[in-house]
Amino acid sequence: MSETPLRWSLDDIDFSRLEPAAAEPELLAAVKTAALVEANSADYVTYLHNVFHGDDAFCAAASHWGVEEAQHGAALARWAEAIDPTFDFAASLAHFRATYSLPLDTSTSVRGSRAGELLARCVVESGTCSYYSALRDHTREPVLRQICHHIAQDEAHHYRLFQQHYRRYPRPALHARLRIALGRVVETGDDEFGRAWYSANHAGAADAPVYDRAACAGRYQAIVTGLYGERHVRTVVHMIAQAVGARPGSRLARWIGTLGWWWLRRRGAASAAA
Ligand SMILES: [Fe+2]
Ligand SMILES: [Fe+2]
Repeated sequence: MSETPLRWSLDDIDFSRLEPAAAEPELLAAVKTAALVEANSADYVTYLHNVFHGDDAFCAAASHWGVEEAQHGAALARWAEAIDPTFDFAASLAHFRATYSLPLDTSTSVRGSRAGELLARCVVESGTCSYYSALRDHTREPVLRQICHHIAQDEAHHYRLFQQHYRRYPRPALHARLRIALGRVVETGDDEFGRAWYSANHAGAADAPVYDRAACAGRYQAIVTGLYGERHVRTVVHMIAQAVGARPGSRLARWIGTLGWWWLRRRGAASAAA
């Protein structure tokens, strides 16, 4: 357990303000899914410790990061169970862990280098920062707004943390940075979210359908995409462009922005179709 204090705790969340009638069913399903992914952070910590063995400063930072991500999962889970008492977070998490796992037996990054790993983490944190900001701005439920506000601030902090460590390592060539960053963006539709959606919203039910990755990941992505306004897209594009090393206002930054808009619209259409 890290000794660095957390910026907030579950005690700071005012559950007395809960307004169950204001909780949109689609957002509830998405929050259950996000709670599982966040709560599974211990596996990511193990993976990062394997990849960064010997880098004690980063390993300590990764341990603290994992505690904060686990708290995100705990807060979202408590909210989801308060809104929907039939939701069994512990059982859903156990099902998720039994059906999805990271490559924990590796000692090298799946991104090809430590810098590549840290760049990919920056992309993930820019995505989660914009997602929780969009969720906060979209929902009418006051407790979920408070939780998402705290989480979005943590995710922005995580982005800066990974960026700080990224700068300690030799920077990959531009084409490699673009491949890693854009590749990580596209991966947001991968098995992790599909499995989490299924475990959170179907597993254990008598009428549970057979797992369909495209349908489950697509359902989740359609809800997430629908939350994003122009401001959230601009934020995530700016963060990713900065992580890649594109100067603000440069042709590369504008190109990343155009590509980001195109991809988001395409993903929204594809998810709705799925
Ligand atoms: Fe998180
Ligand atoms: Fe994070």
